[in-house]
Amino acid sequence: MRTDEPGGSERKPSAMNKLGRNDPCWCGSGKKYKKCHMLRDQRGRLSAFMKPPLRAPVRTAEEIEGMRRAGRFNGELMDVVRQEIRAGISSADIDRLVDTYTRDHGHVPATFGYRGFPKSCCVSVNEVVCHGIPSPDVILKEGDIVNVDLTTIVDGFYGDQSETFMIGEVSDEARQLVLDTARATLIGIDAVRVGATTNVIGKAIEAFAHARGYGVVREYTGHGIGREFHENYSIFHFDTPEAERVEIVPGMTFTVEPMLNLGTWRTDLDPDGWTVRTSDRKLSAQFEHTILVTRDGVEILTLTPSQREAGKRLIVDGVEFD
Ligand code: MF3
Ligand code: CO
Ligand code: CO
Repeated sequence: MRTDEPGGSERKPSAMNKLGRNDPCWCGSGKKYKKCHMLRDQRGRLSAFMKPPLRAPVRTAEEIEGMRRAGRFNGELMDVVRQEIRAGISSADIDRLVDTYTRDHGHVPATFGYRGFPKSCCVSVNEVVCHGIPSPDVILKEGDIVNVDLTTIVDGFYGDQSETFMIGEVSDEARQLVLDTARATLIGIDAVRVGATTNVIGKAIEAFAHARGYGVVREYTGHGIGREFHENYSIFHFDTPEAERVEIVPGMTFTVEPMLNLGTWRTDLDPDGWTVRTSDRKLSAQFEHTILVTRDGVEILTLTPSQREAGKRLIVDGVEFD
């Protein structure tokens, strides 16, 4: 979700507190801080004293079963896409496959009509960070890296995950970026501990990504998920002294979905209002899983059948991640 959506950082103290009024805003809009997030950040800080800390919704036992079913179906769909994705098909072909498979199984593609999004999944190629709109004009070709983000609704519950696929032979740096982004996603998941606060996730991801010189996208975050697509709290993939801190408790379900860039973390939005690109047009990769916090750790709800079978949390072009 966007960092400045209602329910996103509108209510939260935001990224940097040491900014001057005339500095560029932390969100990457290019606007001066005072013209952009400054007031909202101040409001967030003020309200922190007056309101109890933000609490995440937790799932009942019955809802957890619903989330398991949704995640399982969503994962199954990812393996279907994996079988079909190749050079020569268009991103609209992927969308048609996703839409048909979902509806044939009696479920609902969540992105279709979501805030006006016109398609049933997001397909983001190369320098597109996220929210790429499937189109017959976008033909996948050898050397591309392609993120497919799937969200389905199964009996009222949402499953949300994405993977970045490599089409044929890709450059060494593209391959490394994709593998490192998969690793970063799991490092974020491994940081989840009952009793800690959600900002530990971004801390872990950012430390790993920065050590390798990647930019970490700041304007789009993970999110609580359940009977709603995006719940009232965000999961930051970077660290900031003022990151939203929600206590991690059993029964929470949320996504971890870092976007790592070969260059700058800054992004631009296309005139279509959806397609997000890196500002320097260098490559961007993303992985996403939906997870459930349990008493003794984490259960990944969106494991695909192939991942389940292999006992791995991600498998990227034959490279298995425990
Ligand atoms: N699936 C994306 C996420 O991980 C959201 C896509 S919303 C859309 O949060 F409208 F762009 F499809
Ligand atoms: Co998501
Ligand atoms: Co998603």
